[in-house]
Amino acid sequence: MTSTLFYLWFSLLFLFSFAVVIDMEGLPDTGLDTTDWVAGQTPPLDDMWSLNDMQIAAKNVITARYYASYRTAALDEVTYQANLNIWKNVRLNGYSFRDVSDIDLSTSILGYNFSSPFFIAPAANAGHANASAELSLATAAGKAGILYVPSISATKSLEQIANVALEDQVMFHQEYIWSNRTQLIDELKRIEAAGYKAIVLTVDNTGIDGIRTRSLRYTGATSEAGHSATFDLASLSEIRNLTSLPIVPKGIKTAADALTCLELGFPAIYVSNHGGRTLDGAPTSVEILLDIRRNAPEVFERMEVYADGGVRRGNHVITLLALGARAVGLGRSPIFANIWGEVGVSRMIEMLQTELETTMQLMGESKVANINSSYVNTKLVESIYFGN
Ligand SMILES: *[C@@H]1O[C@H](CO)[C@@H](O)[C@H](O)[C@H]1NC(C)=O
Ligand SMILES: *[C@@H]1O[C@H](CO)[C@@H](O)[C@H](O)[C@H]1NC(C)=O
Ligand SMILES: *[C@@H]1O[C@H](CO)[C@@H](O)[C@H](O)[C@H]1NC(C)=O
Ligand SMILES: *[C@@H]1O[C@H](CO)[C@@H](O)[C@H](O)[C@H]1NC(C)=O
Ligand SMILES: *[C@@H]1O[C@H](CO)[C@@H](O)[C@H](O)[C@H]1NC(C)=O
Repeated sequence: MTSTLFYLWFSLLFLFSFAVVIDMEGLPDTGLDTTDWVAGQTPPLDDMWSLNDMQIAAKNVITARYYASYRTAALDEVTYQANLNIWKNVRLNGYSFRDVSDIDLSTSILGYNFSSPFFIAPAANAGHANASAELSLATAAGKAGILYVPSISATKSLEQIANVALEDQVMFHQEYIWSNRTQLIDELKRIEAAGYKAIVLTVDNTGIDGIRTRSLRYTGATSEAGHSATFDLASLSEIRNLTSLPIVPKGIKTAADALTCLELGFPAIYVSNHGGRTLDGAPTSVEILLDIRRNAPEVFERMEVYADGGVRRGNHVITLLALGARAVGLGRSPIFANIWGEVGVSRMIEMLQTELETTMQLMGESKVANINSSYVNTKLVESIYFGN
């Protein structure tokens, strides 16, 4: 009896001191086993078989406060969850009888050639995941031949990031509409001088950020974001005179705004709900793209459309491409992959490329450029979103 109790006590002690139990947050169960992990330590990269695995690994390593800062979204995170779950209501069509021995993922974005139709989207302060911060994101993107769009709220300066660019590496840069006009003008000039090829201008958090509860618990109420609250169409037109770089408005959520950007002559728009971090209740990119297809289809003919939100798998990328996106962004996943530094980010890119290639092979399509709406069935989403 005594020895049984002792054994029980001893096993419990063992369990609590070593086995890492992590709340998987409802992410798809891929059989990830964390029992050998040590809390606070970076798990082996070899354990990683999906981008979701990397999120759980990041959760094990990054301090709770900063994991929350990356993971957080606005209010009840309805849009954050919708981004992750929308894929369940989409079906992909595959064709047989086709030669898929040579898969070509390459594409161009604003006229620049890239190896893959996905890119590293702007996400703030990469340095809380790894001291190399945005530098490993830039280098991994450069080596893989994909686009990186650093955030203006980065750990490293935009010049430091530009300095690690490989020869011929093309990067765009994100910018906010600061209410401090001097700062806005200075940064636009610096971005151009540093060699970035386009400005991705965030237009979905005019004046204020979303209320991100999960993060506010650690930071307390934050002071205002510093974004202009008076930013309107006139200011949007005017801002184009402050730079010679092309501007891509980011955070477009309606066909109406897409059409406005087209009429104003922008070369591209970026459909996004900001990873669920601004307006909670905003639609997913799948729904927004469907809205544009119904109500402003000319947008896809006359300008490039990029999209992001909840993209974790190759088939998510394909879904957005099939709905008309030319390129698809990932925000949180590269940040999480960066806990291993550059090798982690490279591994993340490779996994996504492999999933994309595999899915295309299984769908009977060998060229990204040929992925059209016949590859996707979104009737279920449409019946819920449009009511018909
Ligand atoms: C980009 O790719 C296209 C099509 O593959 C090719 O014709 C063009 O030369 C490439 N441009 C550059 C700058 O490499
Ligand atoms: C506005 O931005 C400029 C340039 O970054 C800075 O020097 C100045 O202090 C800022 N002004 C205010 C009121 O914050
Ligand atoms: C922008 O510049 C163009 C040409 O230089 C000028 O015609 C236009 O009025 C300017 N727009 C604004 C809003 O400043
Ligand atoms: C951060 O990345 C570097 C490589 O850039 C890597 O050597 C290091 O282990 C990473 N840090 C942690 C805490 O994992
Ligand atoms: C869309 O792709 C399908 C499958 O490859 C093809 O049969 C069809 O002709 C394409 N449609 C258009 C309009 O290009």
